Amino acid sequence: MDMDLKNKTALVTGSTRGIGKAIAIELAKEGVHVLINGRNDEEVERTVNEIELEFPDSFPQNATADIVDKQQREALFKKHPQIDILVNNVGIYEMMKYEDVDDEVWEKYIRTNVLAANGLSKFYLPKMINNNFGRMIFIASEEAVMPSGQMPQYCITKSMLLSLSKSLSKLTIGKEVTINTILPGPSLSENVHHIIEGMYPNEDMTFSVKEKEFMTQNLPHSELQRFIKPAEIGRLTTFICSPYASAFKGSPIRMDGGMVPTIF
Ligand SMILES: NC(=O)c1ccc[n+]([C@@H]2O[C@H](COP(=O)([O-])OP(=O)(O)OC[C@H]3O[C@@H](n4cnc5c(N)ncnc54)[C@H](OP(=O)(O)O)[C@@H]3O)[C@@H](O)[C@H]2O)c1
Repeated sequence: MDMDLKNKTALVTGSTRGIGKAIAIELAKEGVHVLINGRNDEEVERTVNEIELEFPDSFPQNATADIVDKQQREALFKKHPQIDILVNNVGIYEMMKYEDVDDEVWEKYIRTNVLAANGLSKFYLPKMINNNFGRMIFIASEEAVMPSGQMPQYCITKSMLLSLSKSLSKLTIGKEVTINTILPGPSLSENVHHIIEGMYPNEDMTFSVKEKEFMTQNLPHSELQRFIKPAEIGRLTTFICSPYASAFKGSPIRMDGGMVPTIF
């Protein structure tokens, strides 16, 4: 299905690997001009070249910046003042015990996972409203609505994104601008792949056996019983960015493999 997104411009934060890169690739397939972001300029260039080679119509560009740093965000705004789509994907996560989460950790998570996305949204939203077109997507997690207790410092930030997304959506009434949150469940980013390989160092086991074992032991309530592929989240995000998804306004959209046990 043609998503009618050709020649739109999208900034996907944290798009040199993992879910962000998969989102950038799926948008590029639709002819969206993707701005590739990450802190490492070499990685950004490598990703830009990779996407350019495969999808030349997407004219990918370098948008290197540490989005947590206000000055770097401002330099990014100067370089790319106008976009149609903002995917707030950057998010840090790690398992931590509540007693180890001190004020510095709380602040780091809130600055990275919430305030950086808010800084970008604050700059680009008025422009989208002015243009009467825009798509903003926050990447949260099933942990936003179902904290596992294994990473309290992370869950709180993902719940905050749901609230921020709805508040911002209230500013788009009557406009062809939508702001939504996608809640992925456990997904096979390179980072997660690395964690699983570390948990099961046995070289005789295939990754798919390791994955099955991990699911049975750690995530028995996943109805999918496998990790979600980043490309699956990329395709959903692309649809939500399309003109066909105008009626999604301020919605939490779950793609969690059935992790959340409630009906709503
Ligand atoms: N993986 C999962 O199972 C899962 C499940 C649910 C939700 N999520 C959410 O999905 C999002 C992506 O997760 P992921 O696993 O794909 O992440 P990831 O593999 O850790 O990818 C991180 C990306 O973000 C960039 N990045 C990190 N900090 C940055 C900063 N300050 N400024 C700019 N770029 C930055 C990284 O590049 P540099 O390091 O070079 O900057 C890289 O491109 C996160 O919000 C996460 O919470 C993930």
